[in-house]
Amino acid sequence: MAKKTLDMAKKNKSDEFYTQISDISVELFNYKDQFKGKVIFCNCDDPYESNFFKYFALYFNFLEIKKLIATCYIGSPIANTQLSLFDYESEENKTTKLPHKIEITEVDDYNGDGAFDLADVEWLLRNKKNALTRLTGDGDFRSPECIELLKQADIVVTNPPFSLFREYVPLLVENNKDFLIIGNTNALTYKEIFKLIKENKIRTGYTNFNVGMYFFVPDDWEEYHKIENGRKLVRVSTSCWFTNLEVKKHKEYMTLYKQYTPEEYPHYDNFDAIEVSKVSDIPCNYDKAMGVPVTFLDKYNPEQFEVLGNLGSYAPDGYSLSGAIFINGKKIFKRILIKNKGVQK
Ligand SMILES: C[S@@+](CC[C@H](N)C(=O)[O-])C[C@H]1O[C@@H](n2cnc3c(N)ncnc32)[C@H](O)[C@@H]1O
Repeated sequence: MAKKTLDMAKKNKSDEFYTQISDISVELFNYKDQFKGKVIFCNCDDPYESNFFKYFALYFNFLEIKKLIATCYIGSPIANTQLSLFDYESEENKTTKLPHKIEITEVDDYNGDGAFDLADVEWLLRNKKNALTRLTGDGDFRSPECIELLKQADIVVTNPPFSLFREYVPLLVENNKDFLIIGNTNALTYKEIFKLIKENKIRTGYTNFNVGMYFFVPDDWEEYHKIENGRKLVRVSTSCWFTNLEVKKHKEYMTLYKQYTPEEYPHYDNFDAIEVSKVSDIPCNYDKAMGVPVTFLDKYNPEQFEVLGNLGSYAPDGYSLSGAIFINGKKIFKRILIKNKGVQK
C-alpha cells in the first residue's frame, strides 16, 4: 500500500486507533506501585472495546486499585456491538449507541473458570456492586459530567483522540491529575506540550520511543498494515506514552564521553547555539546552548540538563526560533535547545 495514502488516512482518522492489550501491559507494568490505592479513570474508553478497561478490570486486584471508571463517547463506532448489556432498554435506545459509564470497586472470578475474558467482563458489568449506567450527555471528556468524574479520579490512563491532544493534556494538568496516555511524538513540540516539558510536568514513558505501535482500526477501513485474528491493524511509527508519573529513565544521568571542538560541533548561522546531530554525541564539557534531535526528550533528565527552547517550531521565549535553522546555508531539521547543568568551569 502507498505510504502516502496511509499517512493521509492517519491524519484524518487517528482518533479511531484502538490500543492493543500487549502494548498497554508492557507500559503499565512499570507503574504498579503508583497505581496502588488510586482511582483510575479511562475517559475515552468504551468498556466493550477498550483494552485499557479490560487491562484494569483484569488486574484490578493485582494492582490494588481503589476504583476504576470508564466513560464512552457517543461517536464510538463499535459501541454496543460486542455485548448487549442493556437488554432492559428499548430496541431504539440500544441501537442509538448512547454513551455510558462504568464504575468498578470490586472484581472477582465471576464464572470461576480461572480465566478472564469477554464473558467475565459481562459478568463484571452485570454485578450489582459495579455500576454500568447511561451518561446523560455525549461522553465528551470536556462535558460537565465527565469533568465531574475527572475530579474524582487520581490517574487518567488512556489513548485519547489525537486530534484533541492539545486540549486534552492541559485539561488534565489544570485539574491537577496524574496521567499516562498515548500520543504522537510530534506532540512533543506542540506549544501546549513543550511548555509542560520545560516545567517538568510531562515526560515520555518506558516503551521505546523509536519503535512505534500497531493499533486496531475499524473493520471497514480499507487501508491497514496487517490483519491478526481477523482484526485490522495500522502501524503508527510516531506513537509514544506521555505521563507525569515517575519514570526511572528520566532520573538517570546520560554518560557523556565526547569533548567539544568547534570543528565537530558547528555553530548555527542564525541562532546562538551549536549543533549536536546525535544525542549520544552531546559533549561533556560544553556549558552553553546546544541544539539536539527531538529524541533527546526520551532520555531527558531535568537534573542533568535544562531544556531552553524549541528550534524550528515556535517561539515561546527568547531562546526559541519559529523559522528554520541553518548551518552554512543548509537547513537543519527541528531541534530541542538544551544546556548541560553540570559542566565544571
Ligand atoms: C484513539 S481512540 C482510542 C480508544 C481507546 N482509548 C483505546 O485506546 O483503544 C480515541 C477514542 O476517543 C473517542 N473520542 C473521540 N472524541 C472524544 C471526545 N471528545 N471525548 C471522549 N472521547 C472521544 C473515540 O470514539 C475513540 O474511541
